[in-house]
Amino acid sequence: MDSVSSVFNLLAYLAVAIFVLGFLNKVILYFRTPSPLKIPTTPAPKNSVGVVIRLIPEILFFRSLLRGGTAEKILWFGSWLFHVSFLLIILRHLRFFTYPVPGVVMSLQQIGIWAAWVFPLALLILIARRFLIDRMVVISLFQDYIILLLILGIGITGLLLKYFMRTNLVDVKAFILGVLTLSPVAVPDSLLFLIHLSFVMLLLVYFPFSKLMHAWGVLISPTRAQTDTPREVRHVASWAE
Ligand code: HEM
Repeated sequence: MDSVSSVFNLLAYLAVAIFVLGFLNKVILYFRTPSPLKIPTTPAPKNSVGVVIRLIPEILFFRSLLRGGTAEKILWFGSWLFHVSFLLIILRHLRFFTYPVPGVVMSLQQIGIWAAWVFPLALLILIARRFLIDRMVVISLFQDYIILLLILGIGITGLLLKYFMRTNLVDVKAFILGVLTLSPVAVPDSLLFLIHLSFVMLLLVYFPFSKLMHAWGVLISPTRAQTDTPREVRHVASWAE
C-alpha cells in the first residue's frame, strides 16, 4: 500500500475514534450535569411515556420552531429540508458500507439522488439566513458559518463526484469495507474523492466539540424532556441530595 493510502486509512480510524469517544464523553457529561429546577414548558406530560410522545413530533418535524415568527419559520424550512435530505443521502451511501446491500438501501437510491440536489439548496437558505436577518448577523459566530460551509463543501464535492469527475465505486467500496473490517486497502485513485472524504473526516472530528451535539441534546433538553410533576414529586438535583 502506498503512503497516501496508509495516511488516509489511519486518519479514517482516528476520525471515527474521536467522533465516537467525543460523542460518548459529551453524553456522559450531559447526564452528570445537574438540572436543579423543574422547567418543562407547560402544558407538559405527567409521565415518561408522555415525554416520549411529546418528543416525537419535535424530532420528526421540529415542532417548536414552527411556533415562532417569520425568522423561525425560515429556519424551520431550511433546517427541516437540510436534515431530511441529509438522512436520505446517508441512507443512499449505505451501499458503500454494506455487503450484500439491503433491499431497503437499494430502494432509496433514486430519492437519495434527488436529496443530493435539495441538500445544497437547504444549506444556502441556512447561510442566507445568517447574512440577511439583522438579529442573526449580530449573534452569528465564525464557527456558525464554518460548519455550514464545511457541510456545503461535502455536498458539492459529492455532486461533482457523481456528475462530473466520477471515481471507481468498486474501489470506494473496497476501501470503506477495508476500514470497517480492519484490513486496510489502497484508497481510490481520485483526488476529488479524497477531498470529499477529508471534509467528512473533519466534520466527524469537529462534531463532538461543536453545537452539532444538539443532535443528542434535543432528547434531554429539560424544557422538553421533563415531566410536569413539581407537586407530586419533590425534585432534588443529585448534588443537593
Ligand atoms: C457527512 C457525510 C456525507 C455526505 C453529506 C455526503 C454527501 C454526498 C452527496 C450529496 C453526494 C452526491 C449524490 C450521491 O451520489 O449520493 C455524494 C456522493 C458520493 N459520496 Fe458522499 N457524503 C458523505 C459521506 C461520504 C463517505 C463517508 C464516503 C465514502 C467513503 C462518500 C463517498 C461518496 C462517493 C464515492 C460519491 C459518488 C457516488 C456516485 O458516483 O454515485 N461520501 N456524497
